Amino acid sequence: MRLFSGTSNKGLAERVAVSLGIPLGDVEITRFIDNECRVFVKEDVAGEDVFVLQSLSEVADQHLVELCLLGSSLRDLHAKKVTAVIPWMGYSKQDKAFRKGEAVSAQLIAKFIEAAGFDAVITMELHSENVLPFFHIPVTELSTHTVLHHALSELVPGAVSEGTVVVSPDRGGKSRSERFARAVGLPVVYLEKSRDTVTGEVRVTGIDGSVSGKPVIMFDDIINTGSTAVKTSEYVQKEGATAIYFLATHAVLAGSGAAVLAGSTISRVLVTDTVFIPENKKFATLAITSVSGIIADAIHNQTK
Ligand code: R5P
Repeated sequence: MRLFSGTSNKGLAERVAVSLGIPLGDVEITRFIDNECRVFVKEDVAGEDVFVLQSLSEVADQHLVELCLLGSSLRDLHAKKVTAVIPWMGYSKQDKAFRKGEAVSAQLIAKFIEAAGFDAVITMELHSENVLPFFHIPVTELSTHTVLHHALSELVPGAVSEGTVVVSPDRGGKSRSERFARAVGLPVVYLEKSRDTVTGEVRVTGIDGSVSGKPVIMFDDIINTGSTAVKTSEYVQKEGATAIYFLATHAVLAGSGAAVLAGSTISRVLVTDTVFIPENKKFATLAITSVSGIIADAIHNQTK
């Protein structure tokens, strides 16, 4: 078994390699003078089960091309099976044409990955149920519920206890929040949220259930601009929530997302390392837990 890493999240790839007890595969990833990507796999992988870890994080276009070039090289080198490990599936937010004339990006990304020669995909907490059917190769979607639950319990002992409620930030996150709430044995309260398709402005328009006098755990797939986290938190705070723990798998933290969260009243923001978070995007209430163990287990299971 071999594990190669793209450049988007080498730290996570290294942690996965440590968990698996193997070194990372030897590959050189450089750019030509015109900025086109060049990959050079320096190992003999013929007949091997090979995994390539790459999150499609900023700059997603570049990281996608890098991933596809890696898949193509490994295929040409006659690897037995090549699996793309994509902890954060960038472009998955555009899982439908929100306006006539928009591309369904998530569908096209699936086609790129397949065309590059990958045999399978391992990913985590996809944005929606629409994304999976775009693939025609096997996709394993891993859940981060357990790792986030344990990390929150360690970070704030007593946060997950009787009296706490899980709040679903929007309709799209309903089943995700319900699964998390079931796993931790807590009730769910639902928020109604709308987003302007042109400006991206987020508005919370209602609540189904009560958060008054209770600590709240919000569970979302992505923090992108931070608008959802901040607007929904402000809303539940006005409704009387006593503490707000905002949990999300993918800390995309686009633009001023980190600053927006840093200035919010959220008690703790807990995310995973599916996306590399640079030092300048870290803030006092942010905590990061690793998904390396879950990914290593999935890789291990697929090679048994
Ligand atoms: C919405 O459908 C998603 O589950 C997230 O709530 C959303 O993508 C977060 O984006 P932002 O941080 O920009 O509000």
